[in-house]
Formats: sequence, structure tokens, C-alpha cells
Amino acid sequence: MTSSPPTADVDLFADDVLVDPYPTFAQLRELGPVVYLPRHDVYALTRYDVIRGALADTATFSSRAIAFNPAANDALRGTSLASDPPVHTELRATLTENLSPRALRGLKTTIETKADTLVADLVTTGSFEAIDALARAFPLEVVADLIGFTGEVRANMLRWGQAAMEVLGPMNQRTAENFPIAGELYAWCSQVQAEDLTPGSVGRGIFDAEARGAVPAGSAGHIIHQYLGAGVDTTIASIGNLIALFAAFPDQFDLVRADPTLVPSAFAEVLRYWAPLHAWGRAVTRDVEIDGHLIPGHTPGSVAYLVEGQNSVFVGDAVQVHGAANGFPGYTDPDAYRDSLAYLRETIRPQKLYLGHPYRRADGTPYGVELDRDQATEALRESVDIEGGVRGAAHRCLCHGLLDTDSAYSPFAPVADDLGYTGDPTLEPSPFFTTLHGYRTQFSHQHRHEEES
Ligand code: HEM
Repeated sequence: MTSSPPTADVDLFADDVLVDPYPTFAQLRELGPVVYLPRHDVYALTRYDVIRGALADTATFSSRAIAFNPAANDALRGTSLASDPPVHTELRATLTENLSPRALRGLKTTIETKADTLVADLVTTGSFEAIDALARAFPLEVVADLIGFTGEVRANMLRWGQAAMEVLGPMNQRTAENFPIAGELYAWCSQVQAEDLTPGSVGRGIFDAEARGAVPAGSAGHIIHQYLGAGVDTTIASIGNLIALFAAFPDQFDLVRADPTLVPSAFAEVLRYWAPLHAWGRAVTRDVEIDGHLIPGHTPGSVAYLVEGQNSVFVGDAVQVHGAANGFPGYTDPDAYRDSLAYLRETIRPQKLYLGHPYRRADGTPYGVELDRDQATEALRESVDIEGGVRGAAHRCLCHGLLDTDSAYSPFAPVADDLGYTGDPTLEPSPFFTTLHGYRTQFSHQHRHEEES
């Protein structure tokens, strides 16, 4: 029998949980394989088997939402990290080609020499601050050389790499504070050229691949962004955890010192025991049942992400024109939707607008997902007009009172008639009903407010 999963009132991104998440993880595992977390409005998969199953089922558990806030997901759209097969498979091939053991063989000697020098220096000091002097210093050098960073970018790597990870959490204070820093990285990667990177580096190789046509034109900067975002915080946390765990379990440290062939398995065990990445997202594309618990599909709602200095805006679902396949825009808060359209149209006036889907024009032809200034102006004007039309039709219908009928649009059949909308309202999730439910909620709040005052 299907039931709702248990609920836990925990904030996975609170400072005390981040510092020591393991008691919370144990508590969630104990509650069940799936636990609803109302603070983040997500379902946590807590046990090995269900996580493994979900990662293998990319059609149901999509990587289009790996972060816990829509702005970060919008910004990551199109990268290998936030895409599903077959697009993911293609992008991933180029990324991993440069990171395969064979590709990295040439760097092995350089990395080993750096490691030997660093360790020799630290040993002579007798005592050192392990996180700054070792866990941070070493990966920063290695990743900088790997990608081919020079000059001032090297100085920014720690801030940028950490911010790229911090913005993946829910929109709390930490995430909000890190967005401008992640934006600096994004802006830099949008304009980086081959000559900015050291000849022979992996980063330079990505530009060569772009010139050969092996990766899409204009994508080299995004790939560089991904290397830096993915390669800094993870490696720093792993080495930091390794030192802390050897300090906590000195007998294990003695074993590894006595037999250095144990180093690779010791490192793998550190990754397992204290994983450097704690929680990672997926979006369910349909209602899905896990061990008898139901997880409902798609939660609508979006915010926009502005790249300052360029006036490019990643709007995701905040601008929808006529909607996507279903031909109807889907939003739950009509006023917030209208306000963001007005703000974008009147205040921001975007140079480039990146949509969340190839939304439609009136004749059904899709806009691309990247709009130039004129197309953005057209999409914003149309979106405002459509919202106005839907608002008017919804209010007329709600003022007359809702009536259940045989219509597929029931109880909102007059709205569909009024708008001449003939799309399929049964597609899940249905934007038609999502949107009208938003107006209905708004209408009943206003009504209650008027009665009370
Ligand atoms: C111990 C260190 C590391 C850990 C624990 C780690 C962990 C991960 C995980 C869990 C993912 C998959 C995320 C998902 O399923 O959505 C991932 C993806 C990725 N990582 Fe790492 N990573 C590490 C180091 C690095 C380094 C050093 C680089 C490159 C410089 C890197 C580059 C990438 C890239 C490009 C992806 C995306 C690949 C894809 O799209 O499938 N990672 N990493």
C-alpha cells in the first residue's frame, strides 16, 4: 500500500548540521528510506539502495535540479552536471577525456614534486595549521596548474571555488551571500580566452577541443567553470577530513605509514566515512513510489539570476510567454509572477534572457532558450499580456462561482472558453490547473480579507 513518507523538521544546511551532519543523517536513515523535509520542501533519500537506484534512473530522477534553489539550477542549465542523457553523455565524454588517468599521467610528476616540496617545508616547521597550510594549499596549486590559471585568477580560486559550492544550498543567508562571488567566477568564465590559460594545460585543451568542433562553440568557458566549481571545495574537504580522521584514529595512520600501498584505499575510505559532499539534488519528473512511499512530481516556482555588468538574466520559469509543450504558463503566485515580469521589463531590460524551457509563441512555435534583446522584449511583453488575459478570465470565472462540469477543464471551463484555450489540461504537471489554483487562492484570500475588514 502507498503511504506518505515520514517527515523530519531538520535543516540540512544549518551551521551545526553542516559541521557534524552524521547524527542527523543517522536519524533520517532510522526514520525510513524516504523522508520529507518541509524546511526545504524536498524528499531525502537516506539509504544506500534507494540512492543507488535513483542515480541509475535518470529518466525519473533528473539532474536538471541538483541545487536546492532555482537560481542556481537555472545558472547550471546546459552543463554536464545539470543535464541528463543523451546530452549529459556527450558533454561528459569531453570532460572526462581530459581527466582520465592517461590524460593526467603527464601531470603526475609535477603533482608529486609539489607534494614532496610542500610536505618537506611543513615538516621543518614542526607544527602547522593543517587546513590552511595543507588541505587548502595543495589542491589550489594542483587545480590551478591543471586548468592553467595564471595571475589574479589563482588568487581568486579559493573564494570562487567555495562560492560555486555554497550557492547550491537553499536560499539562506550563506547562499545569498555567495551568489555575488559565484557571479564573479561566472562572469570571468564567460569571457576567458585560450591565451589566458597556460599552454599545455587541460583548460587550454578544452579550447583546442572547441576549435576542432569536439565541444559546442562557446562552451569552453562553461567547462572551465565546471572544473573550478567541482575541483576546489571537494578536494580541500577530502584532505581536511583525511587529516582529522587520522588524528582521531592514530592506529589507522600507523597502518598507512607502515604500508604506503594502503594510501589509495585509505583515501577512498575517507570519502566514504566523511563524504565531502553531503546532499545533492535531483528533480523527479513524475510521481514516483519508493518502498511504498509516494514522492509527487515537479514543484513549480522560480527566481531570476542576473549577471551584473552584462545584463544577462537566467529567468528559468519566471518568464513563460504561452508556456511550453502544454501551451499554458504555470505559476502558483500570480502577483509574484507579474511583479517579476514588470521588474525585468521596466528596470532590468535584459540584454540576454535565458529561459527555463523553449516556451511558445502564440502560433505554437517555440522561442529558443537564449533570447537576444529584441526577443527578450517581445517575450516579456507577451508574458505580461498573457498574464493579464488569464487574470481577467480567472477573476470573471471566480466571481461567478466555480461549477463542476464534465469538461476536462472543470471547474475552470469558462476560463478555457474565455481564453480560447484548447491545450491538453491532463498533462502532468498541468500548468493550467497550477496557475488557476494560484488565482483561486489569491481570490479567496482577498475575499476573506474583505469580509474581515
Ligand atoms: C575528492 C574530490 C571530489 C569529489 C568527492 C567529487 C565528487 C563529485 C560528485 C559526487 C559528482 C557528481 C554529482 C552528481 O551526481 O550530480 C561530481 C561531478 C563532477 N566532478 Fe567531481 N569530485 C571531486 C573532485 C573533482 C575534481 C578535482 C574535478 C576537476 C578538476 C572534478 C570535476 C567534476 C566534474 C566536471 C563533474 C561533473 C561530471 C558530470 O557531469 O557527470 N571533481 N564530482
